[in-house]
Order: sequence, then structure tokens, then C-alpha cells
Amino acid sequence: MGRPGPIGLAAPFPPVRDKSLPPSPPRFPPPLRTVRLTLEPLRVGHADEMFEGLADPALYRFMADQPPADLDELQARYRQIATGRSPDGADLWCNWIIRRDIDGRCLGLVQATLADGGDTGTALIGYMIFPPFWRQGIATEAITGMLGCLFDRYRCQQADAIVDTRNDASLMLLAGLGFEIVGRTEDGDVFDGAPAHEYELVLDRARWEAGTGR
Ligand SMILES: CC(C)(COP(=O)(O)OP(=O)(O)OC[C@H]1O[C@@H](n2cnc3c(N)ncnc32)[C@H](O)[C@@H]1OP(=O)(O)O)[C@@H](O)C(=O)NCCC(=O)NCCS
Repeated sequence: MGRPGPIGLAAPFPPVRDKSLPPSPPRFPPPLRTVRLTLEPLRVGHADEMFEGLADPALYRFMADQPPADLDELQARYRQIATGRSPDGADLWCNWIIRRDIDGRCLGLVQATLADGGDTGTALIGYMIFPPFWRQGIATEAITGMLGCLFDRYRCQQADAIVDTRNDASLMLLAGLGFEIVGRTEDGDVFDGAPAHEYELVLDRARWEAGTGR
């Protein structure tokens, strides 16, 4: 039998995937489980239960972000985020809300941006835990779960974080996860009218694998 022609004839077998190539990243962030937590891919319906926690000004002490003005604004923000892509379609946006299994409480969120659809192999991470739940190991557990997904499922080679130089809690948290400071930007961001200085921190795949005993 000849080769299938260009018109109307299906290929006789499905195309064989080259197993030496890494699997394509998931189109949408998958749900994740850790010991105490479920990380749920963010959807518009989460706005209701996130709104109150996000209104706490303590969260924004070292961040340029602002609390949502009202529920409508948060829903609009989540509508875009839930598409899994930046508005120009270039970057993958992976956002998870953190739910505590024992009582179903929403504790905060973790997020990762993968530039160029993940082709750069780098994920820029972000996270916030609502203040009533600080210092209970929630960020450590949730970020560890997210990093597992980024390195395993998205085949990232590196996770990055940008942190205000005064944000000791975040810097200590990342140090505990194996991140290292690789750079410092003076006047990196401006909030509350004052320039902020920022560290860039990196965790590469080899260091992450060593830390997880892989
Ligand atoms: C930074 C933040 C996510 C930490 O969340 P968390 O759930 O309290 O963190 P963990 O309980 O996992 O803490 C892990 C480690 O981080 C360090 N840490 C956390 N909070 C700290 C604080 N207030 N002061 C000093 N170190 C702190 C400690 O080393 C801690 O380990 P330990 O409790 O065994 O000493 C939380 O404070 C937060 O949401 N802050 C506001 C938002 C923000 O700044 N996000 C980061 C932007 S870059």
C-alpha cells in the first residue's frame, strides 16, 4: 500500500512520539496534594473565599501588589488567570489556591509564571499565606508541592524568585527550600512611593533533586 495522500486519507497509525523528548507541559495546572494540603488550580469561583484573606494589608508590606478593590475586580483578575495564559498568550500562568484538608479552609495561594510557554525552562514563583496561618509550615509545604510539579510535570530546569531585601520571612523560607541569592537589583520596584531593593534567588534542578534525594 502506498503512503497516505494529502487529501482525505488518515494516517494508518497514530504518530509515534519520540520518547527522548520531554513530555509537553500540561495545558492547565493540575490539582496537587501534599501531606496536609490540597492545591486547587485557581478558578473564578475561588474569588469569594479568597477575597477576605487578600484584603489584609499585612500581606503587602513588601510587595507592589494591592488588595483587590472589590469582589468584581478580583473575579475579573481570576477570569484572566484561570485561562492559564498571560493576555498575550505567551506565558503560562499556573496558580493554585491552598486548601487545608482537615477543615477545608483556604490559606493562601502559590503561583508560577513560565515564560514563552515554558520553553525557557524557568519558572518565576510567587506565594502568599494569609496571616492567621503564618509560621505553621504552610508556605514550605505548598511551595514544595508546587516545585515538584514544576520540575517533574513542566520539566523546568530552574525556579526563580524576586524578593524585597527587607522581606526576612520570605528570604528565610526560600533559603530553607534550597534557593540561593544570585543577584540584587537596586530600586527594583516602587511601592508606597519609595524605591525597593530586590534579591533574585534561584533553585536549579540539580539542587532541587539533591534536596529531595532523587
Ligand atoms: C513569607 C510567607 C509566605 C511565609 O509563610 P509561612 O507559611 O509563615 O512560612 P513557613 O511557616 O513555611 O516558614 C518557613 C520558614 O520561613 C521563615 N519564616 C517564616 N516567617 C518568618 C518571619 N515572620 N520571620 C522570620 N522568619 C520567618 C522561618 O525560617 C520558617 O521556618 P521556622 O518556622 O521553622 O523557623 C508569609 O509570611 C507571607 O505570606 N508573607 C506576605 C506575602 C509575601 O511576602 N510573599 C512573598 C513575596 S516574595
